[in-house]
Amino acid sequence: MIRRVTLDDVPFLVKVEELSFDVPWPDFLFKAHLNNPGFVVYEREGNILGYAMIGDSKGKAHLQNIAVHPQFRRQGIGTELLEWCIDLVKLYGYRVMVLEVGQKNTSSQAFYANYGFKKSGTVAGYYLDDDAIIMTRKI
Ligand SMILES: CC(C)(COP(=O)(O)OP(=O)(O)OC[C@H]1O[C@@H](n2cnc3c(N)ncnc32)[C@H](O)[C@@H]1OP(=O)(O)O)[C@@H](O)C(=O)NCCC(=O)NCCS
Repeated sequence: MIRRVTLDDVPFLVKVEELSFDVPWPDFLFKAHLNNPGFVVYEREGNILGYAMIGDSKGKAHLQNIAVHPQFRRQGIGTELLEWCIDLVKLYGYRVMVLEVGQKNTSSQAFYANYGFKKSGTVAGYYLDDDAIIMTRKI
């Protein structure tokens, strides 16, 4: 099930984050976003298998973070989280969704391309260890 995040989830989010990124978000960043209505976790039998966070960036829906535990990838969980985010921002009237993804992160680029996102720009030095590709999709 997909549900709003709680403070108790943060240690599990940090674990998934550390398994997913070379430069992971620290726990205080997750805690700082706990009141965001677009911050959700994917829970199965009491275990947190993934999470997503969507917000606003200059009038566009902005996917801020998404990750699935490595042992549970390619099972559709990422797609379910992404679709949840899209359904939420549609309710708020957003028409465009935007995200940044690392240039080296080709698997996530494939995930987004599979869902209809197209490359719309690049940002040099966006990440500590990589440039970013901006991807956009009408929703
Ligand atoms: C990106 C991520 C969230 C996708 O989650 P997921 O649950 O594995 O995604 P899904 O199972 O819903 O994948 C849907 C489709 O996306 C594409 N896709 C997903 N992962 C892929 C990969 N590693 N290589 C190629 N295509 C991929 C496929 O078309 C897949 O469909 P298929 O499995 O039927 O072929 C996950 O890989 C992840 O946590 N990555 C590390 C964190 C990260 O980089 N997040 C993005 C930051 S911008």
